[in-house]
Amino acid sequence: MISDKLGKIVSLCKRRGFIFGGSEIYGGLSSIWDYGHLGAVLKKRIKDAWWDTYVERRGDIVGLDSSIIMREDVFMASGHLEGFNDLLIDCPGCKRRFRVDKMEKINEKVYRCPDCKEENDIQINQPRKFNLMLKTNMSATEDNPYYGYLRPETAQGIFVNFMNVLNTTHKKLPLGIAQIGKAFRNEVTTGSFIFRMKEFEQMEIEYFVAPCDADKAYLYWVKERSDFYIEKIGLKKENMRLREHEKDELAHYAKSCTDVEYNFPFGWSELEGIANRTDFDLREHARVSKKDLSYFDEDSKRKFIPFVIEPSAGVDRTFFAVLCDAYKEEEVKGKMRVVLKIKPNLAPYYVAIFPLLKNRVELVELAKKIFANVKSKIPAVYDDTAAIGKLYRRQDEIGTPFCVTVDVDTLTDEKVTIRDRDAMRQERIGVDKIIEFIKEKIYAND
Ligand code: GAP
Repeated sequence: MISDKLGKIVSLCKRRGFIFGGSEIYGGLSSIWDYGHLGAVLKKRIKDAWWDTYVERRGDIVGLDSSIIMREDVFMASGHLEGFNDLLIDCPGCKRRFRVDKMEKINEKVYRCPDCKEENDIQINQPRKFNLMLKTNMSATEDNPYYGYLRPETAQGIFVNFMNVLNTTHKKLPLGIAQIGKAFRNEVTTGSFIFRMKEFEQMEIEYFVAPCDADKAYLYWVKERSDFYIEKIGLKKENMRLREHEKDELAHYAKSCTDVEYNFPFGWSELEGIANRTDFDLREHARVSKKDLSYFDEDSKRKFIPFVIEPSAGVDRTFFAVLCDAYKEEEVKGKMRVVLKIKPNLAPYYVAIFPLLKNRVELVELAKKIFANVKSKIPAVYDDTAAIGKLYRRQDEIGTPFCVTVDVDTLTDEKVTIRDRDAMRQERIGVDKIIEFIKEKIYAND
């Protein structure tokens, strides 16, 4: 039943052009996905909500857009070259590869292959270390290679620019540096759609504080970030929970970490991690680069390496959670409708406009004219390629909060029928009131 919901969401994403397989016409590429129009717009809305909340509306956080490819020394200092590994084991029977840490959870330390179950004892193979970093040859020739690395987290671009940002913005601590961008990991356990990808997007804040303020800031960010998903993204409270990391699962740089988890159809899983990274990163970058990355506090006249609290969110996982949370099947007049009850301001289109009868030229013309006007102010779509019932269902399925129908009466009374996605209530409003009506409802809670 549960995986059935996942299957339906995956199928909706492909059918309606939210998501396509990467390099699909050549047979696809494992754990790489492309976003179609509706997916790209929904993803942008999620990123905009985050950027707007933290960069545009606060005085203590500034933005950054650093490069994806970074030098090898960056990842020597950060510990990723040495410590960013998965311990993997191969099944001698079916040849599938598994992460040892996940195996322990599944098998309670009895290493039977989760796929072949009783048949193959995979303990006869030795686990091997796999580094998750993706490396690229930056030399023009093959015989004299030099390598750059695709960042596995956007965070390192923030740490290496800490001094640039501090010196150019003249800000004091606490100071956050926020970045949205791609990150790359050669993940080996794959297969849960966009939950775990080799190329994905992160929204990260590195929040620099005096060491004595770190614990307080950590608690603040855990609460702030879990509230964000409910208030700004519209996820249901009962589908969210916080989970603090056990000491043995902490990343090599973290003193403490709390995950914001979402109840996905395949179980509770991480949406975001909020970590206290201490002064690990700045200290290591200072050591390896031999640059002074300390901060002078004017008030206390003390010099120190700031501590960092890091709320690190995945764009694609938030996107996935939005779809899982919003997907509903409802019976309407004996028929099933699929509806995405997305928070209205995140919907790819705020309104769809249709003529009631597609073979009445004057209705089509008027509907197109209304559409052109509305589209210049709010995200809108026009459709006249099916009967009205089907047009409504199409929009329900992609989460459009309002549908406007132009009918014969519109020609004389200059009013249209506007239908609400969730309640399916219909009312008549003036053509000149459409934009105002929708804006009022969409932005009511922001
Ligand atoms: N800078 C800290 C950091 O990268 P992380 O827990 O490894 O921490 C943060 O990643 C977030 O990035 C995760 O909570 C998840 O939302 C997202 N993420 C990580 N790996 C991912 C992957 N392979 N595919 C999709 N999203 C991923």
